[in-house]
Amino acid sequence: MFPAPWPARSGALVLRDPRPDELDGLAVLRNDPAVNRFMLRTHVEPEEFRREWSTVPGSDTDFSCVAEHGGRTVGLGFLDVLDGLGQPGMPRGTQGRIGYVLDPSAWGRGLGTDLARGLLSAAFDVLGLRRVTASCNADNPASVRVLEKAGMRREQHGVQDSWHAELGWVDGYEYALLAPEWAALHPTGAR
Ligand SMILES: CC(C)(COP(=O)(O)OP(=O)(O)OC[C@H]1O[C@@H](n2cnc3c(N)ncnc32)[C@H](O)[C@@H]1OP(=O)(O)O)[C@@H](O)C(=O)NCCC(=O)NCCS
Repeated sequence: MFPAPWPARSGALVLRDPRPDELDGLAVLRNDPAVNRFMLRTHVEPEEFRREWSTVPGSDTDFSCVAEHGGRTVGLGFLDVLDGLGQPGMPRGTQGRIGYVLDPSAWGRGLGTDLARGLLSAAFDVLGLRRVTASCNADNPASVRVLEKAGMRREQHGVQDSWHAELGWVDGYEYALLAPEWAALHPTGAR
């Protein structure tokens, strides 16, 4: 059982659990074509979105959150706890995977980086995870920058490893960070 990471401040954002009354609005944001252009899962049926996000606050492995800026909901952060790969005896639930989407009206002000850092801080400083990964498309320079500004290391460049509906076969990047690397970046903790 992990401690609850939210609510938390990260830079200019407050990260918190989703509320049932805002899930329909968040589904509209998630389905904005500008927002999901580089998501592997593009359209998400609103009912499915509501079902998935309403279970988040009680989940043992899904610590996704809503991002608020100045009292306005501007985005979603994804944080899942995973087992990773290993032989029998491997400790379970030591890895995290993060992702993020922001309303286009909030882009270009450092909020994506605040969101990624908040997810990393939750993963390492609160959940105590060992390793966190994230992936993005090489054609999505804003996301590449966000991961690099947050301190993540590029571990893999997959040449034409992903299908993009509009661009065809495109390159993907895989990023990772280990707990000691996070601690070295934030010696007194990010919070
Ligand atoms: C990715 C996303 C969260 C970035 O949010 P943001 O608030 O604009 O991010 P930040 O302002 O913290 O940083 C963006 C960086 O990308 C850079 N950038 C943006 N567009 C760029 C482009 N076309 N080419 C090069 N750099 C670009 C910005 O200049 C900035 O870098 P800098 O601080 O060094 O100048 C936002 O664009 C988004 O929600 N996109 C849609 C969803 C998505 O693609 N999610 C990621 C899936 S892997």
